Amino acid sequence: MESSSAAEQFSARQLKASHQTRNQAEKGLNFSRKKIRPALVERCYKCHSTDAEKTKGGLLLDSRESLLKGGDTGPAVVAGEPEKSRLIQAIRYLDDDLQMPPKEKLSPAQITDFETWVKMGAPYPEKTKAPGDASRITHHASRVTRHASRVTHRCLRPLGLSPA
Ligand code: HEC
Repeated sequence: MESSSAAEQFSARQLKASHQTRNQAEKGLNFSRKKIRPALVERCYKCHSTDAEKTKGGLLLDSRESLLKGGDTGPAVVAGEPEKSRLIQAIRYLDDDLQMPPKEKLSPAQITDFETWVKMGAPYPEKTKAPGDASRITHHASRVTRHASRVTHRCLRPLGLSPA
């Protein structure tokens, strides 16, 4: 039946869009978990975390909020713009006055990872992840589908038709 499949296609499209957004976000967070956080912990936290004896440059790197807020000289990360991000300038050793980590440069692969990550919008996994987020989305999606098929039924009934 024409209109039935149209409604189903519509809800399928919506579902696909919400899946894509979720996959994208999940991909960013995974990248961040795998590549960025370990590098930050190993190479930067000694001087830039709440656990550091004394925070250097007024900069904390242990949450997305503090990354964006930055330190004494402004934001460390401008989401989506590696060229404008102080953190990227620092790890590339572009600025003679700001070279991070101070003694030994990160590997070229790590520097590229950081740039990729800033381009992605600097996703950063929070320590406390809201549980059941994914299942809520699935639940919502199945409600959308059910609703679409109910609407189809209701539209076809007056015509004495039933959906295929
Ligand atoms: C050994 C300590 C130390 C380590 C490790 C270190 N930093 Fe720093 N960082 C500093 C100090 C000190 C400053 C203050 C500016 C200066 O004196 O160069 C600073 C400043 C900064 C700033 C500028 C903050 C501002 O607003 O002025 C950025 C960005 C930065 N660090 C990023 C990093 C990153 C990213 C890493 C890891 C890859 C890192 N730092 C590792 C000591 C450190």
